[in-house]
Amino acid sequence: MDKTYDGEALIRAAAGARERAYAPYSRFPVGAALLTSSGRVYTGVNIENASYGLTVCAERVALWKAVSEGEREFVALAVVGGDRPFTFPCGACLQVLAEFAPDLEIITGLPEGRMLKERLKDLLPKAFVL
Ligand code: THU
Repeated sequence: MDKTYDGEALIRAAAGARERAYAPYSRFPVGAALLTSSGRVYTGVNIENASYGLTVCAERVALWKAVSEGEREFVALAVVGGDRPFTFPCGACLQVLAEFAPDLEIITGLPEGRMLKERLKDLLPKAFVL
């Protein structure tokens, strides 16, 4: 698959996932949808814990699901957070995404709303690598 993709469809997938978020503490549900170079979409949600620091962000859940299914190449990630117009991944998630997809495009928005697009490289220009 080439780099052209349906960003609105990816946002809709992230918004659908957001409905399944487990966020009883922050009440900020997040959904993510990660598009592989083979055209598959893996979704993720934030999963919180009573021991707050064990919470995992939606973006990492999507990546863990994909990588554990054998995926290694990613084209784009959509993030939908709460009912905010735009939510970009946190710094920890950017670092984890950079491991597999330094050229990833990150889009955010709400279905039917305006969409913002950034390159992971621009959000985390000096990712740690070994
Ligand atoms: N969260 C995400 O899932 N992704 C982000 O990009 C930012 C924050 C989650 C973590 C926590 O469950 C809630 O949002 C509030 O921080």
